[in-house]
Amino acid sequence: MSKFRKIGILTSGGDAPGMNACFRAVARKALSEGVETMGIMEGYNGLINDQMIDLSSAQVRNIVQLGGTKLYSSRCLEFATAEGMDRALATCEKEHIDAIIAIGGDGTFRGALDLTAHGIPSIGLPGTIDNDITASDYTIGFDTAMNSTISMIDQLRDTCESHKRCDVIEVMGRNCGQIALLSGIATGAVAVAIPEMPFDVDATLNRMAALRKAGKRSMIVVVSEGCAAVDGLPFAEYLTKRLNAETEIETKFFRPAHTVRGGSPLVRDRVTATAMGVRAVEELLAGKSNEVICEVNGAIQPVEINWALAADRMYKNKLKPGDLDRFNETELAQMKALCDKRRKYIETMYACANDTADRA
Ligand code: F6P
Repeated sequence: MSKFRKIGILTSGGDAPGMNACFRAVARKALSEGVETMGIMEGYNGLINDQMIDLSSAQVRNIVQLGGTKLYSSRCLEFATAEGMDRALATCEKEHIDAIIAIGGDGTFRGALDLTAHGIPSIGLPGTIDNDITASDYTIGFDTAMNSTISMIDQLRDTCESHKRCDVIEVMGRNCGQIALLSGIATGAVAVAIPEMPFDVDATLNRMAALRKAGKRSMIVVVSEGCAAVDGLPFAEYLTKRLNAETEIETKFFRPAHTVRGGSPLVRDRVTATAMGVRAVEELLAGKSNEVICEVNGAIQPVEINWALAADRMYKNKLKPGDLDRFNETELAQMKALCDKRRKYIETMYACANDTADRA
């Protein structure tokens, strides 16, 4: 018999394809273990304002294939305040919620950590198109977002080829260039710019001009939104401007923006979201909390939340004084190894993009 009466589940931060599949899995798995679940609407806002729906098995029917999140989402600053936490705890008391599963990114996990510290065992699940949760090799939504991106780029390629043009495409990813990098490789981009790696604008323009001279008609450049702005212009727009001004290559600019956050999740996201959701319930019922359910070397496994958050800050160069104090040498070495592995992956794939880019 579980000690939990109800598990609350919420989706927070930027939505991602597969979030519905994920909370459906949580609800169904919990119900199969005799535990009720409640959907908390609009992320931590719903916890503060007591906006809930019961998640019966029927309530989560026919959503595994849907994009967006039926629980809605928000970025909730109030939850970080003492008053916000008090109101959230009062809601848990009133609704008999004994544990919480939160799907989102690092901000979402900090909320889960705070809840556990206040007596509500909580577990985080990585849901973001950016694939920027350092502790997890994969985040729910990444594959679908990339496939949506490459569909659009393939379509642009058709018309670029017809009209002898170039398209510079700026894709989301915050400060993580993975969507740009892998989409660029998958669409045969002539160049890819990501915040993690240096980009030589002059050399790229020269190479593209030489390619055009040698007869190349269509060209695709993929730029991550995280690349630093130049002359007050987002990097992709700056590059477009220079291509038009300094080469004979007629260049258009395209920003798919939020379109790739929507759409029906592909199999990778439906399945990973389901496996992660099930594992989160198993962990809670086994008495665990303060974990993020991650994918590590192909396996779904829990990672301690403080470690995951610190590793994330280490990778993103956002460590604050004292952040690493709680970890022993082995844990720190594991964290550094993870950051190295991630950097190595980006470097390898970036080299792969450049080594396979067209040359005159
Ligand atoms: O984190 C997901 C993401 O889509 C990022 O790629 C992007 O930078 C950000 O969210 C956009 O946030 P918002 O939806 O609040 O505009």
